[in-house]
Amino acid sequence: MSIESERREPLLSVDGLSVTFTGRSSLFGRADPLVAVSNVSFEIGRGETLGLVGESGSGKSTTGRGILGLVPASFGSVHLDGVEITGLGRRELRDQRRNMQMVFQDPYSSLDPSSPIGESIAEPLIVHESMSRDDAQRRVAELLERVGLTANHRQRYPYEFSGGQRQRVAIARAIALNPKLVVCDEAVSALDVSTQNQVINLLEELRTDFGIAYLFIAHDLAVVRHISDRVAVMYLGRIVEIGPTTRIFDDPKHPYTEALLSASPIPHPRRQRERSRILLPGDLPDPRRPPSGCTFRTRCAHAMDVCAEVEPGPVQVAGGGEVRCHLHGPGTPTETPVSVGGVA
Ligand SMILES: Nc1ncnc2c1ncn2[C@@H]1O[C@H](COP(=O)(O)OP(=O)(O)OP(=O)(O)O)[C@@H](O)[C@H]1O
Ligand SMILES: [Mg+2]
Repeated sequence: MSIESERREPLLSVDGLSVTFTGRSSLFGRADPLVAVSNVSFEIGRGETLGLVGESGSGKSTTGRGILGLVPASFGSVHLDGVEITGLGRRELRDQRRNMQMVFQDPYSSLDPSSPIGESIAEPLIVHESMSRDDAQRRVAELLERVGLTANHRQRYPYEFSGGQRQRVAIARAIALNPKLVVCDEAVSALDVSTQNQVINLLEELRTDFGIAYLFIAHDLAVVRHISDRVAVMYLGRIVEIGPTTRIFDDPKHPYTEALLSASPIPHPRRQRERSRILLPGDLPDPRRPPSGCTFRTRCAHAMDVCAEVEPGPVQVAGGGEVRCHLHGPGTPTETPVSVGGVA
């Protein structure tokens, strides 16, 4: 493959991904299936950071988990570096896992509280690379130094570290096998602001040094704005808007994006004063029974008749990206897949 075509091919392609959780059966029958991620498509380039935002329950974590194959897709496909991830068997998926890793808000999701951290970091090296214990220990020392800790930390247990240090350990484990993509799911959300900045600087250095791409899921829009090249906005399992970070923040097109941004302070006192906060009426609708047409219409100040009838398709936005909103045109009609049972 030529360098040109390598550049053009995205690292990650998510195409019409849906993830459905089936309800538990009970005495009262089976609950409706919940489509947590519905027909989601986007790409991430090599070394690129895509921010993913949206209120709690909008499907951000499930999107990340769907990409890594941690929850099965009910529709659609995910390709990483040309390899289709969806539908891989357990073993093949385990082999692919080296290329894509996840860092969680709670580092204990990947660190065993009862083992010295050196062992947790060495584990993927021993499992995937069949490294000898000595080689793995040498590599662990290197990794710890790379994330701003020292080789001596190997013997310590997770509880002996501060929150920021523990997140550095989780990052060292995540990058041990030189992944191409790291999904950061609220990875800095539990940290205080100055520790947050240090960990973000580390993630940016790793991106520069190793060309790692990130799907960066976070509530804090200021953090997302700082780290992301592009941003995707999710509402009730759908991506309603996506585009370059500056375009999304300076010229949001979707009423939901506008509302989300209006609730977050901007580093510009005059513009902050001029901007009024848009309060959304009501709560996120029950995802088991989403509104017809545009799922945002029940909370949208601009809802029109068509919004209840037709789910808006993607419309290209001047300045980059796409929006799904009838205010901006009919878009390309999308066929919302009908959810099927028997998954997840
Ligand atoms: N294992 C599961 N079984 C059933 N439903 C689930 C499961 N995991 C998530 N859900 C549901 O899927 C929807 C999306 O959840 P998800 O955790 O992806 O949202 P999120 O955007 O990450 O939210 P938060 O910001 O709170 O982390 C929610 O309605 C949630 O209740
Ligand atoms: Mg989440």
